[in-house]
Amino acid sequence: MGTVPARAQRRALDLRAQIVEANECYYGADAPALTDAEYDTLFRELETLEAEFPALRTPDSPTQRVGGKRAAPFAPVVHAVPMLSIQTAADTTADAAAEFDARIRRELKLGSEAAPVAYCAELKFDGLAMSLRYVNGALTVAATRGDGATGEDVTANVRTIPAVPGRLRGTPPPVLEVRGEIYMTRADFAALNERQAAAGARLFINPRNTAAGAVRQLDPAITAQRPLHFFAYGVGESEGFALPATQGALLEALAALGLPVNHDWRIVYGTTGLAQFYAAVEARRHDLPFDIDGVVYKVDDLAIQSELGYRTREPRWALAHKFPPEEMPTRLLAIDVQVGRTGALTPVARLEPVFVGGTTITNVTLHNEDEIARRDLRIGDTVIVRRAGDVIPQVVRALPERRPPDARRFVMPATCPECGSAVVRLPGEVIARCTGGLVCPAQRKQALLHFGSRRALDIEGLGDRLVEQLVDGGIVRTPADLYRLGLAQLAALERMADKSAGNVVAAIERSKSTTLERFIYALGIRHVGEATARDLARHFGTLDALMAATEDDLFAVADVGPVLAASIARFFAEPHNREGVEQLRAAGVHWEESAPHRAPPGALDDLTLVLTGTLPTLSRDEAKALIEEAGGKVAGTVSKKTSYVVAGADPGSKLVKAQALGVAVLDEAGLRELVARPLDLA
Ligand code: IVH
Repeated sequence: MGTVPARAQRRALDLRAQIVEANECYYGADAPALTDAEYDTLFRELETLEAEFPALRTPDSPTQRVGGKRAAPFAPVVHAVPMLSIQTAADTTADAAAEFDARIRRELKLGSEAAPVAYCAELKFDGLAMSLRYVNGALTVAATRGDGATGEDVTANVRTIPAVPGRLRGTPPPVLEVRGEIYMTRADFAALNERQAAAGARLFINPRNTAAGAVRQLDPAITAQRPLHFFAYGVGESEGFALPATQGALLEALAALGLPVNHDWRIVYGTTGLAQFYAAVEARRHDLPFDIDGVVYKVDDLAIQSELGYRTREPRWALAHKFPPEEMPTRLLAIDVQVGRTGALTPVARLEPVFVGGTTITNVTLHNEDEIARRDLRIGDTVIVRRAGDVIPQVVRALPERRPPDARRFVMPATCPECGSAVVRLPGEVIARCTGGLVCPAQRKQALLHFGSRRALDIEGLGDRLVEQLVDGGIVRTPADLYRLGLAQLAALERMADKSAGNVVAAIERSKSTTLERFIYALGIRHVGEATARDLARHFGTLDALMAATEDDLFAVADVGPVLAASIARFFAEPHNREGVEQLRAAGVHWEESAPHRAPPGALDDLTLVLTGTLPTLSRDEAKALIEEAGGKVAGTVSKKTSYVVAGADPGSKLVKAQALGVAVLDEAGLRELVARPLDLA
């Protein structure tokens, strides 16, 4: 390698070692060391380096082979027709579609006047490639891809998968090798992990790994317990099979033989057609019941496919156009602790900025210390960050094989980082809390924000930045202080124009006239959400009655349990809380007091509903309001006590759980009907 700079040589060696190791983990164990995106990045870097310095491209380079090493336990199956992979586009913009189309036109020597090329555009299923050999219509061998030339015989396992037909329908040819993908749906994956969690067992990482692991079990009985599915998308060796003229017709022929074929393929034309397909599928990606990591473009005409032929690793007639990755590795730089309104200390991951799921992510909540321990996350680790759709980003796991020697465990501080008060974690609780109460500026700020929030006293303009300045400047300590704020005082603050200061003063003034339930909610009593605040207002009728209530009195309110009763009683037992309430009344905050009354009977009285997925017309808040207006409760988790689960598009594991527990499931129309119609209890 005389002409190759030492740095390039070293980098190539390093890349190869990483790729070989990743191949071994991928093919040898259930747990890949790298995500697909990382693997692709490394692979492409090596390819580029070898293109620049061809001396580096030795026969033993991973770029010169397909796949990696196989693990031992399954008998080898030599593929009569190799199972190739597809070239992956280097970028996730429409440019990749244009470049592919341009390359195909170039290779076919099509002039600019020639008609657009027809492509079969398919989903790129994120599963495990499989070759199914049918002899006279009967499944005889099921083999994994392995290194592309030789795979593993997993026939006994694959026979347990209901979606894989044991016999083909119609008039099957003497020999037909069907190529396709084994996968697991997201709902099945979630349910499986729920069962694992309930049994205290290890959680699975993602549907793809789980499907791959299930297919490679030594005991087919275990495979049989894993809900696996299959989509066919191609053929390998065949005898007596009249190969259709196009990929589209091939998919139809496979379906006619009784094989499961996904319906979301389309014949599209030219760059525009490809780009439109890509955009349409990407927009719908999260509505699909299974994971896909992109789309696949195939020249539709099979004769043209043969004309285009193959390169070392991949056919020239196909392109995998991936979506921006939803999981990316990055470094966990630090774990800070944030103090919430109730004093809850939340560990927050500070990350090296990483672009994932369409945005750059730098901070992710880690929930609590037990979560950190369960995932064994250490400061300094390389971690996988996931952001799928509009779900909040998560740190999924650490890559222990990349752990630096100086990685540190997280320790919850013994004192509050904001006020220095002692931090306690009560037995049986997962959350550590600052004991500083309203002495703690962080809690004061959060309490003020909550007080002025839309569903509480609704003080428009009282946002993060203003509260920050008010508290840090010692101008406001308690909610009552807000009512003493003058226009001049506000206008003097940073980034406060006279006009916005005026608006805030007006909003504060307006907030004085409120309702009892909003006022109770605004106090920020632990565990007292809007629904409870409304129950309390209705039950007690006046604030004085509520403040005088004993734990037993509170317990008598429907849906108030012992924890809630204790929390409310404790709040009003605190002299500074009573004082705070009096100051607010003195400042002019008022509401109409009414005699205690029970709400008129609603259609959903005493019923608990759980919402999951996206409803066609109602937002989550609207659905919640609808249910609560009808007297129902909205709970976050499904249990045997749940009356109904209202499910929309892309429901989560709650739906699975409801089905498992036999809880009735409604759609939006069902919910509307239920709310409109009082229950017939006769
Ligand atoms: S066709 C010669 N079609 O993606 C082309 N592959 O890197 C053979 N995949 O190994 C594959 N969805 O496991 C094809 N609709 C699809 C696919 C698909 C997923 C997988 C397959 C393959 C890999 C390509």
